[in-house]
Amino acid sequence: MFLVTGATGQIGRRVVRLLRQQELPVRAFVRLNSRYGELEHRGAEIFIGDLRQEKDIHKACQGVQYIISTHGSDGDALALDYRANIELIDHAQAQQVRHFVFISVLGADRGYEDAPTFKAKRAVEQYLQASGLNYTIFRPAGLSSNLLSLAERFRQTRMYLLIGDPKNRTSIVSTDDLAQMVVKSVSVGGAKNQILPVGGPEILQREDVPHIFGRVFNQEPIIINPPLFVIDGFRTVLGLLNPPVQKTLGTFRTLLANEFFCTHDEIAHLESVFNLKLETLESFLRRYLAV
Ligand SMILES: NC(=O)c1ccc[n+]([C@@H]2O[C@H](COP(=O)([O-])OP(=O)(O)OC[C@H]3O[C@@H](n4cnc5c(N)ncnc54)[C@H](OP(=O)(O)O)[C@@H]3O)[C@@H](O)[C@H]2O)c1
Repeated sequence: MFLVTGATGQIGRRVVRLLRQQELPVRAFVRLNSRYGELEHRGAEIFIGDLRQEKDIHKACQGVQYIISTHGSDGDALALDYRANIELIDHAQAQQVRHFVFISVLGADRGYEDAPTFKAKRAVEQYLQASGLNYTIFRPAGLSSNLLSLAERFRQTRMYLLIGDPKNRTSIVSTDDLAQMVVKSVSVGGAKNQILPVGGPEILQREDVPHIFGRVFNQEPIIINPPLFVIDGFRTVLGLLNPPVQKTLGTFRTLLANEFFCTHDEIAHLESVFNLKLETLESFLRRYLAV
């Protein structure tokens, strides 16, 4: 039995689909208010719970052989990015789980002090590595599926908001490719006990994204490019009103201020470990937007 957390998320629902296509037994950890109908329809066992509750994690882990942790944090890095994963790892040890897959983030090891999610991910990586469990840790750059709603807005307005340095490099990975690698990682030797940076096949500059949208929709982009200090000003004002939200915005600012890309060697390594040809952002968008 595979336990998948974040089963209604961008990565999680694709992982459940792939596992069910292979007719493997899956327990999908979902919240009561989540949209989980599709997962149920595909034959996943639905476990309703909240990852903030250790008793739910304890119950969900009963009888599982594989755990795939893909949940996000809703802005609460301590409870969800950190504590829920530590509890999942503890229960995985107790259950003698065969393999634990964790979705971290590219740059988790760079010591960004102002980014709670990055700090939590790094602490979980270290805990998992020391646990004695078999594991695979993926460190993705941005996911292509994040861009679908922006692309739809672009289709209507031709506008693209690009905050910060347009020359910063990024390697956006197809969310479908990542899900495939996640599923394969429990059985592929080259993924066992590895931390794998994950990106798409191209190193893009952030300003390339609106131009790719432009090509896909055959429209000239209108790029709105405010400098990063706009976010800093916004954070300062928010901090006076709501200090926790100001902290959460630290992760967002870190994402905007830095480069997140994989080297060509890292991508070649991924393609060889998983026997996969990674998809470009443009191909992903054309598939989903049918253009
Ligand atoms: N998106 C990116 O570009 C990116 C890049 C690098 C790394 N990552 C990492 O990749 C992972 C997956 O990202 P994603 O974009 O696929 O996530 P996502 O689409 O935002 O989905 C988050 C999932 O977590 C679930 N969740 C949140 N709080 C929960 C709680 N208290 N109890 C149970 N479930 C809860 C959500 O359930 P609901 O459906 O109920 O909301 C949803 O299924 C995350 O760990 C993220 O940090 C993402």
